[in-house]
Amino acid sequence: MPGDKSISHRALMLGGLAIGQTRITGLLEGDDVHATAAALRALGVQITRDVPGNWIVSGVGVGGLDEPSQVLDMGNSGTAARLLLGVLATHNMTAFMTGDHSLVKRPMARVTTPLARMGADFVTRGGRLPLVVRGAVNPIPIVYRMEVASAQVKSAVLLAGLNAPGETTVIEPVGTRDHTERMLRHFGGTVSVATLEDGATAITVQGQPELIAAPIIVPGDPSSAAFPAVAALLVPGSELILRNVGMNPLRTGLYETLVEMGADISYADAGEAGGEPVSNLVVRASALKGITVPAERAPRMIDEYPILAMAAACAQGTTHLLGLAELRVKESDRLAMIAAGLAACGVKIEVGEDSLTIHGTGRPPNGGATVATAFDHRIAMSFLVLGLVSNESIGVDDATAIATSFPTFETLMTGLGARITGAPA
Ligand code: S3P
Repeated sequence: MPGDKSISHRALMLGGLAIGQTRITGLLEGDDVHATAAALRALGVQITRDVPGNWIVSGVGVGGLDEPSQVLDMGNSGTAARLLLGVLATHNMTAFMTGDHSLVKRPMARVTTPLARMGADFVTRGGRLPLVVRGAVNPIPIVYRMEVASAQVKSAVLLAGLNAPGETTVIEPVGTRDHTERMLRHFGGTVSVATLEDGATAITVQGQPELIAAPIIVPGDPSSAAFPAVAALLVPGSELILRNVGMNPLRTGLYETLVEMGADISYADAGEAGGEPVSNLVVRASALKGITVPAERAPRMIDEYPILAMAAACAQGTTHLLGLAELRVKESDRLAMIAAGLAACGVKIEVGEDSLTIHGTGRPPNGGATVATAFDHRIAMSFLVLGLVSNESIGVDDATAIATSFPTFETLMTGLGARITGAPA
């Protein structure tokens, strides 16, 4: 499996803020991660590639970045943009940031609001990119209660807190992926976690630490593994072993959901890579049934709803997916894209403000459509997986976005027997 995207971004950024050389093994070499690497280089961090997947980052220390002379272009990546804004917010410098036609539509106020409280100034295009950040001259540590369940917001504030004196605390009512916290500790940072009376979690980072370079092994991405995993569940007779997949409990909601639907998924050779749990997954073709996926689970599987919707379309019975408001502000409006694509493939589907109801018949849908993807990698991969089992083939209008997170998708799927042909000009 390709390296984990979330962990790859963080390995480059924290490697850049540590003292010394950080060796990264298994870095995801996708466009999103390349955008982070390019931005860090523009900020004065030396990053070199040894052999494929092996990268070396020469860190400049917390607070040691240079003012960039060029606009930072974060491409398609919300994670790259938001996490880096956290870093920049407490560097005494001015930086300009933009992104591609998808990223410039996505909300940035969720990070600029808390970061402004830490002393940074922003000029944004209505809360969106392009923007200018003027980093704090005297950073102020804050206590911030999150309004959306977002690991990107949590990480942005924690990363800003690194260059503020004293303690910065983020309170999260619902748990989100904790890769930043784990990796900070890996580099010698001090992060404490406490449960508050109302059940929320308070995460506190000690400011101005000396982070020390440390080797990082990036686990396989559970969000990418989801595509071949669901393909194996749907295609009769399949059995697939997916090796070295990250099993951080805040990322595994999809696999729990699939098992509830009747999936035959087992785990073997559990271990650890770079402070994160990993495991091999054994997936066998299974008859799936419709279920209700509760809203509380959404943060633990937020990127997996597109591919889950394909599984639900083939399951027997109705699947209700709840608490999906955040899907509307991902790389595309994923609720709308899933609903339109499945409907075009002959699936009965209802879309609410923040929910999806998918009526499966226990048989693959008809297909026979070219689905719009709005340059969203996960929408494209999801419908290609559905096309493996639909009665007629399924096309996607643009598969280029797949390179943002899973550049080896086509080769891997073709190697497993999928027939994927190039789009007509
Ligand atoms: C990510 C967090 C998630 C996820 C994104 C990666 C991260 O976003 O959708 O693909 O690396 O922190 P939110 O935390 O904003 O939901």
